[in-house]
Amino acid sequence: MAESDSDASAADVWGVELSLGSMIESPTGEPLDRDGFFEWLWEQHGGDGLAGIDEGAISTSEAAALGLTQSALLIDAAAAPADRDWVGSLESAAVTCWFLGESAAETAAAQLRGLAGCRVLSVRRQPRVAPDDWKRAFGPIEVPGFGRILPAWEPGTASTSADGTMIFIDPGAGFGTGLHDTTQLCLKGLAERMQNSRPIDRLLDFGSGSGILGIAAALLGARAVLSVEIDPLVHAAIRANAERNGVAEQVTVLRNTPVDTAGYDIVVANIVAPVLLDHAEDLCSRVRGPAADAAGGCLMLSGILTGEIDKVVDRFSSLLRSRLGESAVIRTTSGAWHCIRFEPASSPARPAAESDWLVYLLQCRDGSLYTGITNDLPKRLEAHAAGKASRYTRSRLPVTLVYVEPQPTKSLALRREAAIKSLPRADKLQLAARV
Ligand SMILES: C[S@@+](CC[C@H](N)C(=O)[O-])C[C@H]1O[C@@H](n2cnc3c(N)ncnc32)[C@H](O)[C@@H]1O
Repeated sequence: MAESDSDASAADVWGVELSLGSMIESPTGEPLDRDGFFEWLWEQHGGDGLAGIDEGAISTSEAAALGLTQSALLIDAAAAPADRDWVGSLESAAVTCWFLGESAAETAAAQLRGLAGCRVLSVRRQPRVAPDDWKRAFGPIEVPGFGRILPAWEPGTASTSADGTMIFIDPGAGFGTGLHDTTQLCLKGLAERMQNSRPIDRLLDFGSGSGILGIAAALLGARAVLSVEIDPLVHAAIRANAERNGVAEQVTVLRNTPVDTAGYDIVVANIVAPVLLDHAEDLCSRVRGPAADAAGGCLMLSGILTGEIDKVVDRFSSLLRSRLGESAVIRTTSGAWHCIRFEPASSPARPAAESDWLVYLLQCRDGSLYTGITNDLPKRLEAHAAGKASRYTRSRLPVTLVYVEPQPTKSLALRREAAIKSLPRADKLQLAARV
């Protein structure tokens, strides 16, 4: 049964729908562009029931068709610079102003009806939404290679085990529900990177949204995480998400990255490419440089579309080169989205111990590659040299050991595929001399 108007309370939300041209004349005859008009509207009605303004929208394909963007996938962000403010570039925008109560809405509509450049299309009450309706839309999300994302209100405890990581996120808290490809690419990248590295002391999550990536990193073992999010309205939610996952002590939330010379073992940023490029120098300068006993840090970028990859790789590689030397570039893809990881290629690896298990990559002269994990690689290679083909050298062609990484436990064999995917370029011939 439809609600009658008499059910409406003073706190009901009413929308005044407007069509706005590019210039609007104020009641005193002052010409206002659309931003100026919104400011004027706030001054007039901000203290009198105006609760919000939806400045209009443009579908991404429409924006591309109008030549406002090259890509049908980018979004027009609030407070975007002029060249990405596509809604602002439209000749006419469909705007909705939200008022608390009918009389405030009607008063404003009556004033706006007389203005040149502004047409009032309707004044209507918003249907009520049950407070928890939206929650039904979110269920557990499986992210192969990482684990499971659950809504914060589900029962259970966050954890990391050989089966993966279980993380609880309140999806109401800004971007970062875990549903988006770009987030999932980072989660997989973090799991892969952190399972195959020495402990991570410091990680920077730049553009943290709900905090999902930094919190996931803390669950994977990062000792200190800095979540940097420009929107302060999301900060309380990041803290609540960290608390819910039992990592509140590891996670610090800030609006800007502080001046800090120590550097981060991992810097991760999932923001659209134009914003990444705007922040390229700052992001690169945050990556920890090499130390006597450790390679430099790694930089992981996501939110990059196919046509943007080359530009991003060129810019970031050249900035990182001066500080960290050459980087190996590892790319992962989901649909139209790409994640790029820069790893220092000339990093000093930990010397292999006799008891180590070794992830290795062999290349035969015909170009074929064999991978494996073993603790007797020298023996296998000796056998090969003596003409005895083994499982890993079955082609009987001469082989070159192109990459070996010592691993302290055999359990990594379970993650062999992940380890192999993350192999840096063939420049660590650590055991070659022993072959
Ligand atoms: C695409 S979301 C990513 C959220 C989350 N990290 C994830 O992977 O799902 C990008 C976030 O970056 C934030 N952001 C945009 N520009 C920023 C800046 N200059 N500094 C910090 N955060 C920024 C946005 O507010 C948004 O929450």
